[in-house]
Amino acid sequence: MTESNESVLPIPQRSTDQLEAFLHEQQTAYDALKSQDLKLDLTRGKPSPAQLDLSDALLSLPDGVKDSTGVDTRNYGGLAGIADLREMFAELLRIEPEQIVAGGNSSLVMMREVITYLWLKGGVDSERPWSPQQPGEKVRFICPVPGYDRHFTLLEWFGIDTVTVPMHDDGPDIAAVETLVADDPSIKGIWLVPTYANPSGSIVSQEIAARLAAMPTAARDFKIFWDNAYAFHHLSEDEAKSADILTLAAASGHPHRPIMFASTSKITYAGAGVGFLAGSLATVKWYTSHLGKGAIGPDKLNQLRHAQFFGSPQGVRDHMDRHREIISPKFAEVERVLSERLGGLGVATWTQPTGGYFVSLDVLDGTASRVVALAKEAGIALTPAGASFPNGDDPRDRNIRLAPTFPELSDVSAAMEAVATCVLLAAADPLRSRA
Ligand SMILES: Cc1ncc(COP(=O)(O)O)c(C=O)c1O
Repeated sequence: MTESNESVLPIPQRSTDQLEAFLHEQQTAYDALKSQDLKLDLTRGKPSPAQLDLSDALLSLPDGVKDSTGVDTRNYGGLAGIADLREMFAELLRIEPEQIVAGGNSSLVMMREVITYLWLKGGVDSERPWSPQQPGEKVRFICPVPGYDRHFTLLEWFGIDTVTVPMHDDGPDIAAVETLVADDPSIKGIWLVPTYANPSGSIVSQEIAARLAAMPTAARDFKIFWDNAYAFHHLSEDEAKSADILTLAAASGHPHRPIMFASTSKITYAGAGVGFLAGSLATVKWYTSHLGKGAIGPDKLNQLRHAQFFGSPQGVRDHMDRHREIISPKFAEVERVLSERLGGLGVATWTQPTGGYFVSLDVLDGTASRVVALAKEAGIALTPAGASFPNGDDPRDRNIRLAPTFPELSDVSAAMEAVATCVLLAAADPLRSRA
């Protein structure tokens, strides 16, 4: 970064000559970047090997094969999961153990199962299955954007239309949501990541959660998919507490509206953790009765080793502190580079998450795809522009999701320096032609 006065003048306000010079500077920086033959990756939000190592005691567990109620975890049965782990995560999620199911290794699979059951059979409060019964009938889902790409892919795969609303710091644009659901019975649900959202880091406030729980909906079987994948993934001591959606919904007379999901994918092992689903007692019964048509029980041995590994809800919290020690310096580095290189220049804004796995970067409208392409050419893999929008289509072509957890800290620095150069180079060209 230069220290001249020019560098603090927002780029959009510069004269044509200044922009020419700026473009030249960025092109030189970019050429230098390309000559470094980098091979860096900021794409998927995965735990790093050092984070996975934190859970390696799992590899020599369980100690014995029976859970604390005497269930032999090697055998069939126990569709809702073992009591020890249900109790532990119920306490962490502030619900009752009867309201939670401990399943297989993926909460995303549980989400797909829930949509499948709704589609084929309808929910506990449905008059009929969700699948269209007449030609031309549609099912729609509200998706706050930017959001999680796999939620969108799943909806697209079912042929469910997505209706986007903006995601703000305290949750979805609630007035827009209330208006959409009030009169349109084809709008059957909303997908939310309530705590440290992917990718915005937003946290749904208690007030917005209460409005979601209480709002009148034309579809009587409207569902809130409350994907609390990052419930315990704090990056600072300022730990967000997720809104208590199940209690709020029950108190508003809509006990079956929310279905909560969580998992240990980013607590223990991303490929060998435990997924959870929670809801009203009727929802749990509904889920397990459909699940039971194709399963006799989950991998209870894996559940037992998780229960023994954590020991208690506090054991989970302590374990998350160790994750934080590893990943918070990486997020600090993203913030440092972005603010040093792009701060005050008027070409980008970005989130400063207090938890979760992502930073959401908004660049100048119409330049995100070019930033990603420039980065790719220089050896830095970024998540495709638009990935955080349904159909991969960001109407403003400005959003880029950054995932700094997996690479080493030094690689995060190098990759972010490169990203900053690409953002500036991509911004300079259109601004120059606009000048
Ligand atoms: C919001 C969100 N939900 C769910 C998942 C996947 O969860 P699981 O590993 O439990 O299937 C992810 C993974 O990135 C995620 O970001």
